[in-house]
Amino acid sequence: MPRPVLLLTRQLPPAIEARSARDYDARLNGSDAPWFKDGAEIARRAGEAQAEGILCAAGDPMNAATFAALPASVKVVATFSVGTDHIDLGAAKARGILVTNTPDVLSFATAEIAFALMLMAARRAGEGERMVRAGTWTGWAPTQLMGVTLEGKKLGIAGFGRIGRELAAMARAFRMEIHYHNRNRVAPELEQGAIFHAGEDSFLAAIDVMSMHMPGGEATRKWLNADRLAKLKSGSIVVNTGRGGSVDDAALVEALRSGHIRAAGLDVYDGEPKLHPGYLGLENIALLPHLGSATEETRDAMGNRALDNLDALLLRGEAPPHRVA
Ligand code: DGY
Repeated sequence: MPRPVLLLTRQLPPAIEARSARDYDARLNGSDAPWFKDGAEIARRAGEAQAEGILCAAGDPMNAATFAALPASVKVVATFSVGTDHIDLGAAKARGILVTNTPDVLSFATAEIAFALMLMAARRAGEGERMVRAGTWTGWAPTQLMGVTLEGKKLGIAGFGRIGRELAAMARAFRMEIHYHNRNRVAPELEQGAIFHAGEDSFLAAIDVMSMHMPGGEATRKWLNADRLAKLKSGSIVVNTGRGGSVDDAALVEALRSGHIRAAGLDVYDGEPKLHPGYLGLENIALLPHLGSATEETRDAMGNRALDNLDALLLRGEAPPHRVA
């Protein structure tokens, strides 16, 4: 029996490519750069190969036009990400194509990067690193690059899902007080003493550091705008490891310039890899290149989860465990 054809849009870790090639007629991508310029090319290759599955990744253009152009052979699109904002789920549904994602396995790694950014912002680590590399460090000085400690600060987690809750667990070890804002209050065993704010205003006014963990998409577009920034205490720190579109970049740049926001840390950007040019000239912001899930362990786990989803449908004719549409 011929193995199902699986089209991989991106290069994946060696163990994941090996598993793909073992179990599928896998069309691998030999380089980390995407081979497609647009979704039409993904659809064209899927058509040429008569792919039954597509293993895509965050940022791939799986929009309505791509789904409309996919060949009838495609039964499932498995994304190598928890986020699905790059996928038009409605268009997938309309074509009868299942969509799956990779929840849970990247929560700890992404929380680690959020915590790294919190520390970089609070302790001015980016500025210090740039100073040392530039050769402008003249030696230890009592008032040099003084930041603020996280100990005892109120951490506000916007979006208290799996990643937000992992961050809360890490922050407890730093003796931070945890507050959260979420569509719904979570169960006490998940809350672990975190303080729920149903209203945005009380949340924003209560906290010293805000970490954003919101899904992308229209509902959260430019959520952190000038109004909400103004409601944060003067001297607050802002971190975003969710999706770049949730931040109004011009408003954040202005708040960082004025000092109303002491410092920020970003791992995601609206329209990445481009980013608002205003960020580049600011010292009080730490900028990372979407590293949230970028550990060897996590990327293997994401790939295995994506393949578990594909295997369920394409190899065993069962419902994939992590179906989102
Ligand atoms: C995701 O999974 O959605 C991340 O942004 C990519 O790791």
